[in-house]
Amino acid sequence: PRKIIIDTDPGQDDAVAILLALASPEEIEVLGITAVAGNVPLPLTQKNARIVCELAGKPETKVFAGCDAPMKRPLVTAEHVHGKTGLDGPTLPDPTMPLQPQHGVDFIIETLRKHPAGTVTLCPLGPLTNIAQAFVQAPDVVEKVQEIVLMGGAYFEVGNITPAAEFNIYVDPEAAKIVFASGVPIVVMPLDVTHKALVTKPRNDAFRALGTPVGVAVAEMTDFFERFDREKYGSEGAPLHDPCVTAYLIRPELFSGRHVNVEIEVESELTLGMTVADWWGVTDRAPNATFMGDVDADGFFALLTERLARL
Ligand code: BDR
Ligand code: CA
Repeated sequence: PRKIIIDTDPGQDDAVAILLALASPEEIEVLGITAVAGNVPLPLTQKNARIVCELAGKPETKVFAGCDAPMKRPLVTAEHVHGKTGLDGPTLPDPTMPLQPQHGVDFIIETLRKHPAGTVTLCPLGPLTNIAQAFVQAPDVVEKVQEIVLMGGAYFEVGNITPAAEFNIYVDPEAAKIVFASGVPIVVMPLDVTHKALVTKPRNDAFRALGTPVGVAVAEMTDFFERFDREKYGSEGAPLHDPCVTAYLIRPELFSGRHVNVEIEVESELTLGMTVADWWGVTDRAPNATFMGDVDADGFFALLTERLARL
């Protein structure tokens, strides 16, 4: 299996991404989960990560708390989408599994140092603070990363937190800039993909019909999440952003995209955090990321439901 670190700010869709990874030990070995401030503040994201591991029946998973604020800016959160706890919807017990004492950034650095180069993949599902901080603190680990597969940014779909920017990149654009300039191979799941992975009613029903605590909790999470997108965008279901990352690790052929140059806007107030992707190759800037553009949504939901059934 592919060794990964999940860096996350749960978040209902983060939760589903984690569940999918923990349900797929043949393809994915989760070395640890590092929480970051994002959808809600750090004390909640690290707690939510542990709630999800216990829901999955995997309390032995190592969960670390990372950075509690972006590198240079005050934290912007998204309770309007995810609710006050970040994981509104299901009623889940407080976690009893421990939070690891080590700082999440130190865990990322130590893990990359102790594994052979090119054998650990980073999966950021929130603002890129922890990853960038690790690269700044320990530049030697950058070349050891196998790949970064992240959810963030947008091209044709432009933005969801501002007209120009997607939430994860917007919250810590300086961190995103460091990551995209790092030279590590990057696969991006932007809004262009995730807005095609919609939890329609039949797909939500399929989760609930699993009849397991995991199936029911996921249905309740996506129910909660959905109210926002239906009201706001009139979409026929909530976009399941972050699970696209872990699904890609299991079935990359579900996704298609282009290897392009992506630069991050860090100065303009109007377009702060915009992912400027050279989709049409109109510059001679070197490609630095594979920007996905499409997903086989039925295949994605079939995989997700089949895997959640295993927990
Ligand atoms: C991203 O922002 C968060 O609200 C979601 O968890 C996802 O990672 C989508 O823009
Ligand atoms: Ca997230």
